[in-house]
Amino acid sequence: MPSINRRKFLSGTVALFGAAGFRYPIWALANPNGDRTPSPLLLGVDYYPDQTPEALWVEDARMMAEFGFTNVRIAEFAWALMEPEEGNFDFVWLRRAVQTLHKYNIAVILGTPSAAPPPWLTAKYPEIVEVNAQGAPLHPGGRRFTCPTNKTYRRLSLAIASQMARTFADAPGVIGWQIDNELTLGSSARCYCNYCQAGFQEWLRSKYGSLDNLNRTWGTVFWSQTYTDFSQIPVPLPSGGDPNPGLALDYNRYQSYANSSYLEEQLAVLRKTCPGHFVTTNNVGIPLDIIDLRSLYEKLDFVAFDNYPGFFEMLLHEQSKSGSVSWDYINTTIAMEHDFARRLHGKPFMIMEQQSGKAGQRTFSPQPNSGQLRLWTYQAVAHGAMGVNYFRWDTATFGAEEYWHGILNHDRSKSPGYDEIKQTVKELKALGQDLLTANYPAETALIFDYDCDWALQIQPGHSGLSYVAQITSWYGAIASNHSGIDIIAPGADLAAYKIVFAPVVYVLSEAQAVRIKSFVQNGGVFVTNFRLGAKNETSQMARTPLPGLLRDVMGVTVEDYVPIYSAKQGVKFSSTLAGADGESGIWGDILKPDAAEVLGTYTSGAYAGRAAITMNSFGKGKAVYIGADLDPASLNRVLRGFSASAGVRQLLDVPSGVEVTVRKSDRKRWIFLLNHTATVQTVDIPAPHTDLLTGERQTRTVSLSAYGVRVLQAS
Ligand code: GLA
Ligand code: ZN
Repeated sequence: MPSINRRKFLSGTVALFGAAGFRYPIWALANPNGDRTPSPLLLGVDYYPDQTPEALWVEDARMMAEFGFTNVRIAEFAWALMEPEEGNFDFVWLRRAVQTLHKYNIAVILGTPSAAPPPWLTAKYPEIVEVNAQGAPLHPGGRRFTCPTNKTYRRLSLAIASQMARTFADAPGVIGWQIDNELTLGSSARCYCNYCQAGFQEWLRSKYGSLDNLNRTWGTVFWSQTYTDFSQIPVPLPSGGDPNPGLALDYNRYQSYANSSYLEEQLAVLRKTCPGHFVTTNNVGIPLDIIDLRSLYEKLDFVAFDNYPGFFEMLLHEQSKSGSVSWDYINTTIAMEHDFARRLHGKPFMIMEQQSGKAGQRTFSPQPNSGQLRLWTYQAVAHGAMGVNYFRWDTATFGAEEYWHGILNHDRSKSPGYDEIKQTVKELKALGQDLLTANYPAETALIFDYDCDWALQIQPGHSGLSYVAQITSWYGAIASNHSGIDIIAPGADLAAYKIVFAPVVYVLSEAQAVRIKSFVQNGGVFVTNFRLGAKNETSQMARTPLPGLLRDVMGVTVEDYVPIYSAKQGVKFSSTLAGADGESGIWGDILKPDAAEVLGTYTSGAYAGRAAITMNSFGKGKAVYIGADLDPASLNRVLRGFSASAGVRQLLDVPSGVEVTVRKSDRKRWIFLLNHTATVQTVDIPAPHTDLLTGERQTRTVSLSAYGVRVLQAS
């Protein structure tokens, strides 16, 4: 434990937060001693006393304490043990587990168990199961097979959560809660059951007020879909032809709302019953996009995500069935997920489950290379994590996750990652709270908009066009200059940023157009691409020449928009963007400059000679329209060029495969160097720094071992 003065820290926070009736900051809540002294760090492990013979609990707790862990998360799937029959609760075993852990100073995050309802429940209430997008009901026997709308499931979820809350509100050692587990992350993401249909109809009634309004907004006169009663409105199940795009978009919004409001019911009870505890949930960010995570996490105390880079590699292999998956792509996607997590609350986040070895169910990823487990932990911290729990302590010897390896092997010997994780936890403790709670400065923003994502999934225009893929490749291009990036909501304030990137703004609201306009007017640089402003929030097409609401800002008119299949379109760059000729992959917006300057031109096909990229001066700023779906090398060069011209500074020049990030508090600044490659890399630094991990002073050139990490501070 770093030598922080607990008493002083506590008295300060109590004065600040206690009197005002706020919840204590989480640091003050982690009180394994039960006396409100803070245990400042969340460096723990996911643990399953419910799956472990009680005779081993003491040994586990002792080993965890020796390992250096500060906390566990437990019980998130233990419904059957906590409520063996309806209304008959048994928390005796869980109390003993908490007490045992507490004895060894291991604090406890409790999970509410609603992701895995027991067989008595589904036998009695079979109607709670989810219905998938083909209209087929799921079946009990796995997990995450429930409907988020169903009132019986909600009532029973709330009952077990309330009983748990009452039982553990004052239990020494308990510090916080995780509600449910990875909402919507199962084999079927959205539910299409009768209860969801009724819930959708209710939601529409309050959104639209009248059927007239709804019919007009969706354009239901098309294909004779005019509704004369709310009860006639369907959910988008297979219907011989595509659904109405307005209905389909609203259905995605409804499903997101159903999950968030489901979570909020449990949250309300926990807030009331356990005012001294923090509450969060665990999920993963982009590329999974069923719930608007901004709403899901809005009222929670902090964001917690799960992080499995090695498992992600395996999934990519299984999806592509090809031999090579780029680790650059994986590292970039994970970095993006961290940046997304941090920006959801604009403050440090937690990793609730961090890969600790081979990971998977029927198939599994290999043991990460030596150094990678530590590297992946530091990558999270480098992007703003304040705490990490590893998944999981031991490895299950039964059940669907026998191959999801933990810190102990099946025979309870040390797993191959044991020592490395132990070392990492020790290092993070030494780096301390100052670093873990520090900010992450960013001059660049990337807009991620669920409406654009969902509307484009409903009508991509080209089967290869994906919003998430576009966001990921833009993030990768921008991140390659190693300056901080915030991934923001369309409604976020843009004023703090020098440059804002926003690919595929397929849905554009008036409010969003106004924000972008004033950002550019006041000197910001706005960079966007094809399909800008094609639709409004109701998923109807813009009725003005594109790019619709931003035509004046962009200074161009879109003459045509073209999916590209076999006839590739070449792109030639003007001297401003100087570089080898590029190619447009799957899409081309054909631009006619009104006021804008042409920076790129199509060179082949029917549109040869027409503008592909333009830049407009508007007010004090610039607005860039990239009509072409640029090849990765060109996109990289072009986006980096715009960043540089907006005044975004690249902190250090590093070899490919090395990541640089900065965290910053009022008084201190930490530079992270992360080597994602299997070879030694070197980085030149402009001034002497100390590596806080080794204590070595680095003067000019820092070397990074394979998968190595440095945390530097000016000295
Ligand atoms: C998830 C879940 C856990 C566990 C692990 C491994 O992300 O939250 O319950 O299933 O992954 O699959
Ligand atoms: Zn349902």
